[in-house]
Amino acid sequence: MCGIIGIASFKDISKEILASLKKLEYRGYDSAGISTINNGEIVENKCAGKVSDLEKLIKKTSLSGNIGIGHVRWATHGAPNQINAHPHSSDEVSVVHNGIIENSSIIKKELVEKGHVFKSQTDTEVITHLITENLKKMNYLDSVFETLKKLEGSFALGIIFKKFNNLIVGARRGSPLAVGYADKEKYLGSDSYALNSMTKEVSYLDDGDICVLTKDKIDFFDKNKKKIEKKVHKLTQEKESYSKGNFKDFMSKEISEQPEVIKKCINEYLDKIRKEINIVNFPIDPKKISKVNLIACGTAYHACIVGKYWFEEFTNIDVNVDVASEFRYRNNKIKENELYIFVSQSGETADTIAALEFCKKEGAKTCAIVNVTESSLSRLSDLVLPIHVGAEIGVASTKAFTGQILVLLLFILKIAKIRNEIKADEYSNIIKDLENVHSHVTLILNNKKSIEELAEDFINIKGSMFLGRGLSYPIALEGALKFKELTYLHAEGYPAGEMKHGPLALVENGMPVIVIAPKDRFYDKTISNMQEVIARGGKILLISDHAEEITTSENVWSEIRLPQIHKFLSPFLSTIPLQLLAYYVALKKGNDIDKPRNLAKSVTVE
Ligand code: G6P
Repeated sequence: MCGIIGIASFKDISKEILASLKKLEYRGYDSAGISTINNGEIVENKCAGKVSDLEKLIKKTSLSGNIGIGHVRWATHGAPNQINAHPHSSDEVSVVHNGIIENSSIIKKELVEKGHVFKSQTDTEVITHLITENLKKMNYLDSVFETLKKLEGSFALGIIFKKFNNLIVGARRGSPLAVGYADKEKYLGSDSYALNSMTKEVSYLDDGDICVLTKDKIDFFDKNKKKIEKKVHKLTQEKESYSKGNFKDFMSKEISEQPEVIKKCINEYLDKIRKEINIVNFPIDPKKISKVNLIACGTAYHACIVGKYWFEEFTNIDVNVDVASEFRYRNNKIKENELYIFVSQSGETADTIAALEFCKKEGAKTCAIVNVTESSLSRLSDLVLPIHVGAEIGVASTKAFTGQILVLLLFILKIAKIRNEIKADEYSNIIKDLENVHSHVTLILNNKKSIEELAEDFINIKGSMFLGRGLSYPIALEGALKFKELTYLHAEGYPAGEMKHGPLALVENGMPVIVIAPKDRFYDKTISNMQEVIARGGKILLISDHAEEITTSENVWSEIRLPQIHKFLSPFLSTIPLQLLAYYVALKKGNDIDKPRNLAKSVTVE
């Protein structure tokens, strides 16, 4: 992960770099730094902690310069401290890096033998020393090309030079990198989001590309040093979604936006007059699809599992779901008429992109369900289905999950319809009920006070379990993920039916167990599993839309009663109280809501 920004301008740029770094903190926030060329010298400022700490540091030093690079770090090699923070500079060059240099220890050994003295434990510092060494015998561009030849692994780089003090060099292999254009000012950024407030015109580097920015122009070169042209893209995302408004944090804003997000997304895909889902240009004729593979990481992976249940419910297509980091290294055999669907909020997750690249190389047909439509994943896929939820800033994903399952459902229904595998009345009933989902979500959100009160009882727990069956199983996984990400308390998501095969041993008197049991065909079975937990002393929080009283309700510690909804749409509702629960427990514990410890929003390293 990590975030990179670079600005070449005619005016002082340190404030602009700091502002961009703040926006990039979703990629890493354990240390931050900035280098500028000031009076012909490289001036480096960096510190452990957040960009606000860097800002305080810089105030003391009156930093200036028209050429500069900045970085926010998510540590891979070396602890998150001041020395390991980027940039890494020598007298001649200063470097910011996103990615991992896999052969850094071999290169370091060679450089140390040549007399180079290393300050940090990072892999990045070898790049600084290699370029410095090469600069002894070649110009800046050749020194970068020669350096890149030696590097194994993935990187996006921003480089400034003492002697070539009007330019920034950017390079990409594996980790995304974008550039932006404005009059007398040019930008380098690890994604277009970092550049969005400064420009709406961007270009993306492809693997192997190098760019050279001055305030007046950007030159691009391919890996063979051949000059190339790049397409200029217009950015679309609205600026407003980048502000917290009246909310305490982005996460509470994003949770509360879900009714609007659902409405907007349905509007984008549904022809309300014909009651028809507008998805066309399938990479494979839906009638010919033999198998679907859903691939993602984190929350998006849980969305994929929901998608698997829906695919199996509405179509006869075989479905496989994979975590991208596993998929990319398995011995996969891609066959004709298999559709590969990649789900990602950012569209920049390294493992998901690598899995997609593998599929493309093998000739597979691909589809991306993404939030950031200007992302690498979108650009590489045959079909892009945006989730239209607006920028999601909180590291813990909430509204993007809702958007992902919504688009998956629309996509699946459309495929089922084309294949004649769903009855016309079921199709129209689900669509009709989908149009009401937003109002049910609003009802749950209006009841958030009761969840806030419940949260008090979770602050000092040792651990918790989240259980569900069928469509509620991935929701249990997602509920547990949200809970651990935000509260730093152990939480395990499990299929309710598997409890007796091991996890039941964890249940002891007073252990909170959250049971998700909508009134679907699994309801009775889940309630039986719940009783097995109760019998061992588990303290049950039941999340359900059941109408009648449960006979043993005296044993249920607490209940969150959901509005009744079509049995296949329950994930849209049961997710919401789980997001709120994690949020309020974390808030009461005083945790950083938008930037939970050790995590980052966009995981652009393996
Ligand atoms: C990180 C984020 C998660 C997210 C996952 C996948 O771990 O913290 O919230 O679910 O990456 O990200 P993507 O952008 O591909 O959905």
